[in-house]
Amino acid sequence: MKTLIKNIKEIVGVSTNENTNIKSGNKLKDILSVSDGWIMIENNIISDFGSMKDWKGVENWNDTNIIDADNGIVLPSWCDSHTHIVYAGSREIEFLDKINGLSYEEIAKRGGGILNSAQLLSNTSEDDLYAQSEKRVDQVIKLGTGALEIKSGYGLDTENEIKMLRVIKRLKEKYPIPIKSTFLGAHAVPKEKTKEQYIETIINEMLPIISKEKLADYIDVFCDKGFFSPQETETILEAGSKYGLQPKIHANELDFSGGIEVGVKMKALSVDHLEFTSQTQIDILKGSKTMPTLLPGTAFFLGLQYPPARKMIDAGLPVAIATDFNPGSCPSGNMGLIMSLACIKMKMTPTEAINAATINGAYAMGLEKELGLISKGRIANLIITKQIPSINYIPYSMGENNINKVIINGKIYYDSQTNY
Ligand code: NIG
Ligand code: FE
Repeated sequence: MKTLIKNIKEIVGVSTNENTNIKSGNKLKDILSVSDGWIMIENNIISDFGSMKDWKGVENWNDTNIIDADNGIVLPSWCDSHTHIVYAGSREIEFLDKINGLSYEEIAKRGGGILNSAQLLSNTSEDDLYAQSEKRVDQVIKLGTGALEIKSGYGLDTENEIKMLRVIKRLKEKYPIPIKSTFLGAHAVPKEKTKEQYIETIINEMLPIISKEKLADYIDVFCDKGFFSPQETETILEAGSKYGLQPKIHANELDFSGGIEVGVKMKALSVDHLEFTSQTQIDILKGSKTMPTLLPGTAFFLGLQYPPARKMIDAGLPVAIATDFNPGSCPSGNMGLIMSLACIKMKMTPTEAINAATINGAYAMGLEKELGLISKGRIANLIITKQIPSINYIPYSMGENNINKVIINGKIYYDSQTNY
């Protein structure tokens, strides 16, 4: 079966070169587009696209499904490469603590924060956790996310970390978008163990089960002040690499933690957060294959300083942006909002934000050959916008949902008209 998307005002984020990869430095703002366009999809793959002036017609209309873009813009779906979307309950009580002046670290020290989520999760069955999480996954797909990374890290003991990873596995099986699973056992230290004991558990108890059940694609450590040191991070990542798990790490959110250095040294696919980044770390990232991934929703929600995105881009680095969707530091999976924050707070241009949220995000999940651009042979996960004046309108109209339809594997997943 073929599908034709017609009446497209503009196709944005196209590529005619199959080898197109991530966008860095002054190329980050470059985005190719086709006006007055059409896209042909065969099964779940983009088979062709072009402008109406080069339109050659359809061979067999009986075998062709039509999707009317109604003069909207079509973009590649968002690639959200950093989330903690599997969690139990919520933490709005800490939201009040924060308003009343407590910092993220102070809340964590009082047993709030990650430990609070761990407590809630241990009292939640796997089925209930799955039910809570699948609603969020459905919600973010309807907001335009067409590839998703999800971390464990609210288990903090073997039983509950495995419970989280099994839920992620079930989400992978149920949802039609690519989902990558990251083992983040080293997210915090549980109350009942010393750090050394807990690292021992991660390495000798959790990792063998995760490997046997094939529960993770990546391994993560919260390498930051008050959490795990670079040395501890390296020990854990090394153990993970014995099981073939590539690192994607939390680095430099709360301080100059050494996380970027250890991430690059350990060939991490991405280092994420990076609120504390200076020229030294930028120089270390340059020439590496590690994607700096910025999470402006977290800096916004926690009132932190923002990562120096402009300095990074002007120094020639690529950057990806992601939501960090989690109950403590960014209770939102809305990539449109994250793009607004990237533009407003980090001075990224709209086209830089789009590339950072699509092709560069795809790279940070190992999906840069399959998603993130509109080109022949890529998976047809696409966003069709409402009638908007230009792509700049997307981050400009902060908080507005500009999505008309979401296409996943060439089929309509969500239609704003029917709300389904
Ligand atoms: O990415 N920084 C560490 N982990 C999460 C927050 C976790 C939480 O507070 O629940 C983050 O911000
Ligand atoms: Fe995170």
